[in-house]
Amino acid sequence: MTAHFYGTKKYVLNVLQRPDLHQHHADLYAASVVLQITYGKPAPSSFEDPAIVAIHKIADRFLGMLKPGAYLVGRLPWLRYVPGYAPEIKRYRKEELEVHLGQVDATRRSVEEGSDLPSFVRYLVENPDSHGLDEETLAYLAGPCTTSVGMYTIVMAAALFPEEQEKVLAEIDGVFGGQKALRWRPILPICLYHQAFANFVWNGYHIPAGATIIGNNWGISRDTEVFPDPETFNPQRWLNDQGQMRPQNEIRFFTYGFGRRVCPGQYVASRSLFVTMSLLFWSFRISQDPSQPIDSNA
Ligand code: HEM
Repeated sequence: MTAHFYGTKKYVLNVLQRPDLHQHHADLYAASVVLQITYGKPAPSSFEDPAIVAIHKIADRFLGMLKPGAYLVGRLPWLRYVPGYAPEIKRYRKEELEVHLGQVDATRRSVEEGSDLPSFVRYLVENPDSHGLDEETLAYLAGPCTTSVGMYTIVMAAALFPEEQEKVLAEIDGVFGGQKALRWRPILPICLYHQAFANFVWNGYHIPAGATIIGNNWGISRDTEVFPDPETFNPQRWLNDQGQMRPQNEIRFFTYGFGRRVCPGQYVASRSLFVTMSLLFWSFRISQDPSQPIDSNA
């Protein structure tokens, strides 16, 4: 939790100084939490810090490559063996690996120099027998994240729905308000690519082994049977008549994906959103600049 609290104070102070750059501050916060938890790296204070620049460059490329149809090799896997196909992918991989290996080396050095900061990579390098991963795989385990987009979305929802902001503030209930914002505008409109490893039938459709399946978060968020009037921002829809959370078989949180590939970072991300947004709403009232109306679908 230390990573969350230190970074949160800094995020709120940054918003105080430059509210117009709130998205940058959220990016810096989210990347700092990942660097701290993964490598035990003290939170960088500037958006221009090389580690922060590198993490964002990797995240941007990664998200671009994930777009369905971005590369034909997704549909024609044999293309990967064609010499010269998409040379930038190989270049990106080389550059990313250098960044990740550099961070693993820096963690190793800081442990040798007596640092007592705990981290995920520190555990892995100190306990090689517990996982048996090679250096490259170990370096890749730490990835970029999407928490900051969740932060912008909640800030945007607060500006557009001031009455709901007041209700959230009354209970400092980042859970329903935050959850609601992520239902209203899912951070990742689609999940990652999955592959069926056996033939199966779903709702009358034959899905062959090897087919690519992509969860449609945006479609789920617009399912009027579960979320009637889906464009309405209404945190109360998560509660029953007694004010208690409705059971999972009635309404379910889907923003982090589902099944065996569900987001492993969801607990870190939810805590980050809860802590940052609670302190932000406690510190400020967020409102829309009437001269520049927000386009919530942009
Ligand atoms: C609000 C923030 C976040 C959201 C909305 C989010 C959402 C998602 C979604 C939708 C998936 C795909 C799940 C699927 O295909 O079924 C995913 C996968 C993943 N997420 Fe997150 N995530 C967030 C934060 C994080 C953080 C902070 C980390 C790491 C520290 C992380 C690490 C990962 C990893 C490694 C995967 C790939 C899992 C796999 O393919 O097995 N995420 N995330």
